[in-house]
Amino acid sequence: MTGGMYLEKRYAVVGNPIAQSRSPEIHLAFAAQFGDVIEYTKHLVTLDGFGAHAQAFAAAGGCGLNVTVPFKTHAFKFVDECDDAAAAAGSVNTILFQPDGGSRGCNTDGVGLLNDIKYRHGVDLTGASVLLLGAGGAAAGVVLPLLNSGVAQLMIANRSKDKALALVAKFETIFAQKGVLSALGLDEIPSKADVIINATSFSLTGGSVPLKPSVVQGAFCYDMSYGKSAEFCRWASANAAKYSVDGLGMLVEQAAEAYWLWHAKRPNTEAVMTQLKRLMAAPEHG
Ligand code: ATR
Repeated sequence: MTGGMYLEKRYAVVGNPIAQSRSPEIHLAFAAQFGDVIEYTKHLVTLDGFGAHAQAFAAAGGCGLNVTVPFKTHAFKFVDECDDAAAAAGSVNTILFQPDGGSRGCNTDGVGLLNDIKYRHGVDLTGASVLLLGAGGAAAGVVLPLLNSGVAQLMIANRSKDKALALVAKFETIFAQKGVLSALGLDEIPSKADVIINATSFSLTGGSVPLKPSVVQGAFCYDMSYGKSAEFCRWASANAAKYSVDGLGMLVEQAAEAYWLWHAKRPNTEAVMTQLKRLMAAPEHG
C-alpha cells in the first residue's frame, strides 16, 4: 500500500489519553493558512500498542505522527534515525515517514519552549539562572535547548533527587561547559532564580505546588502545562511572580516546528494562539 491511494496527506497525534489534545485544531489551522489540504486525526493507542500502531499508520500511507504522553520514549525506540534533540532527550514527539519506508524521529518540544519564551514573551535567557522543576520526560526534552540558549545556571530539581542526578549526569556528557548544570532535591531549592519552569505533572497527579512561595517572587515563571492544568502558573501569579505564563505557546510553537519539518512552511503562530484561546474559553471546552 502506498500514500498514493489517499487524496490528502495524512497525519495524526498518538497518545493515551488523547481526547484532550489540541494538535488537530492547531495543524488544521496552520494548513488553512497555506491552503494545504491535510488530514490530521487523534489516535488513542493501548499502552503496549505504539509500535504496531505506528507501523500500520505508515503502511497505510501516513506521512507523519505527533507523539504525546506516554509514548515519546516508545517513539524514540521505534524510529530508524533521529535528530540531535531527540537523541539527547531519548524522546521523540514528531515522526516523519519517508518515501523509502524509513522513519525519522525529532523532538520539537525544546525549540517550542525556547521560541515561546524568547519571541512571544521577550525573555532573554543569556546569563540567567534557571530552575527546572521535574526530571521526567517533559523535563528531559528541554534540557539541551536550555543549555544551548546560554543560561548561566540550570538547576534541575525533582521530588526524587536520584532522577535529577541521572538527568544531569546524562547531559554533562554532551554539554562541555562545566558548572552550569546541577541536580537538587525539592528541599534544596535556593531562595531565588531568574526563571522557573514547571515540567512536573503534579497538577495531573493531584499533588500540590512543590515550592515555597518566596522562590517565585520576582521571577519569570513558565508552566509547561496549560489551560485547567496550569496550576503552577496561577499559583506563581498569586505569589508575586514577575510574570507567569502557561504552556499554550509552547504547544503551538512545537507544533509549528513539526509543521516546518513535515511541510517546509513556517506558519503564523500568533493567529493560531488567538484562535486556540477563543476555543478553550468556550464553555463546552473549558
Ligand atoms: P512527563 O512525561 O510529563 O514528564 P513523567 O516522566 O512521569 O511525566 O515525569 C513526571 C514528573 O513530575 C517527575 O519529575 C515527577 O517527580 P518524580 O520523578 O519524583 O516522580 C514529577 N511529579 C509528579 N507528581 C508530582 C508531585 N505531586 N510533586 C512533585 N513532583 C511531581
